[in-house]
Amino acid sequence: MSVWSALRVSWQAYKTRRKMNRQFGRREDPFSYATTPYEAARLAAMDEALGAGPLGPVLEVGCAEGHFTEKLIGRSSRVLAVDISAVALDRARKRAASAVFLEADLLTWEPGAEGPFDAVIVADVLYYLDRAGVRAEFAALFPRVASWLKPGGRLLLAHGFAGDKELARRRAFRERFERAGLRLVAETIPEADRGGVRCLLSTLEKI
Ligand SMILES: C[S@@+](CC[C@H](N)C(=O)[O-])C[C@H]1O[C@@H](n2cnc3c(N)ncnc32)[C@H](O)[C@@H]1O
Repeated sequence: MSVWSALRVSWQAYKTRRKMNRQFGRREDPFSYATTPYEAARLAAMDEALGAGPLGPVLEVGCAEGHFTEKLIGRSSRVLAVDISAVALDRARKRAASAVFLEADLLTWEPGAEGPFDAVIVADVLYYLDRAGVRAEFAALFPRVASWLKPGGRLLLAHGFAGDKELARRRAFRERFERAGLRLVAETIPEADRGGVRCLLSTLEKI
């Protein structure tokens, strides 16, 4: 990475960290995961999409305050969860104490010896990273995430959308993972709705 690219990525990470820490700092559960039927249905649908059996090591990126991490620790032998916000992570550690939490920027973080994983969860996070100035690093994220899975491992994508234009953008995320070598196994849009927002839920598999 050139010095200019590294500076752009650091600047983007700084801005996102500041924004997310402010958002989580205003109040607990700023996205109302605990109180909104849509969010409860979305997290339940994500859980179901991972299949019924127990899981080995699992990675959740953009875990926020750990509402989905809490579900993962009940069924995975080892849960690693990453977020850019220290404020969110403090709460996540209390909610899902047996998971390992790391503060990091997805555009530069690598799991190294922590991987590869049976499942990687990427939910309502990619649109935070898709920014002018870091387009090359964002493009590189798709093959990087694909490389973190074991053969046969599953990538779970879940991103909210309002209207056809946003739905096409969410599908484009999934297509980029397909171009990175993952195979689409299932894709659904659960009925639940939050003021016109619904969730595109895609499960992909590493061949
Ligand atoms: C809307 S929340 C989604 C939380 C959870 N994944 C879910 O679906 O319920 C987005 C989370 O992504 C995190 N995030 C945004 N940009 C990030 C980045 N570059 N690296 C790591 N986490 C990031 C935010 O701090 C926030 O906690």
